[in-house]
Amino acid sequence: MSIDIRITPSILNADFSNLQSEIAKIATVSDLLHLDVMDNVFVPNFTFDFESASKVIKESSLPVDAHLMVADVDQIAPAYAQAGCASVTIHAEATKDISATLRAIRKIGARSGLALKPATQIEDYLDFIDDVDMFLIMTVEPGFGGQKFMTDMMSKVSRTRAIIGSRPIWLQVDGGVSVETIEIAADAGADTFVAGSAVFNAQDPAAMVTALRELASKS
Ligand code: DX5
Ligand code: ZN
Repeated sequence: MSIDIRITPSILNADFSNLQSEIAKIATVSDLLHLDVMDNVFVPNFTFDFESASKVIKESSLPVDAHLMVADVDQIAPAYAQAGCASVTIHAEATKDISATLRAIRKIGARSGLALKPATQIEDYLDFIDDVDMFLIMTVEPGFGGQKFMTDMMSKVSRTRAIIGSRPIWLQVDGGVSVETIEIAADAGADTFVAGSAVFNAQDPAAMVTALRELASKS
């Protein structure tokens, strides 16, 4: 089966004081820009409030894939769709009404994503599958870039791929994706890959995105 591969660089490890030029480095070779929103409550780190995130979304030349690592996400998630994100991902662990929130994101015209932390099992969320455009399987504990890829998440990725079946749902992995690990994730069934430090710490970020895409496409 041939599936589309998407590379979605995360700007978490990019230079925040110069985001436009950082985005420009990877814009022509990437599918979406992965925007990590952290509130220092759901995760022990802070990145953007809604106002500064909205500015990045407006100014980005790439469509934005927002990954919301914030508590009580039900209210704010539709606002990210309204702000122009192509995709808005909420955490299963942070959402009170998952179905309503996913539907609200979709209704505004963005893709709806459901993210699972490493300890959260996909089998507990099968009821929401019809409201999901993308599952995000975390391959690190959310909160920081530059962590080690958790190979033991690959069974969850394979199980999610089997559950997706022929549905047009993307399967994203996030955390520790690099030239060393992307093929493992692709072999397990992932088709959408977040890479932060691997891309922005590379000498040539665009060449790294292309190298990652080639490796993922081989599987
Ligand atoms: C972690 C974030 C990731 C992070 C990935 O909580 O969700 O998107 O930026 O960074 P790397 O690729 O360095 O693990
Ligand atoms: Zn992320």
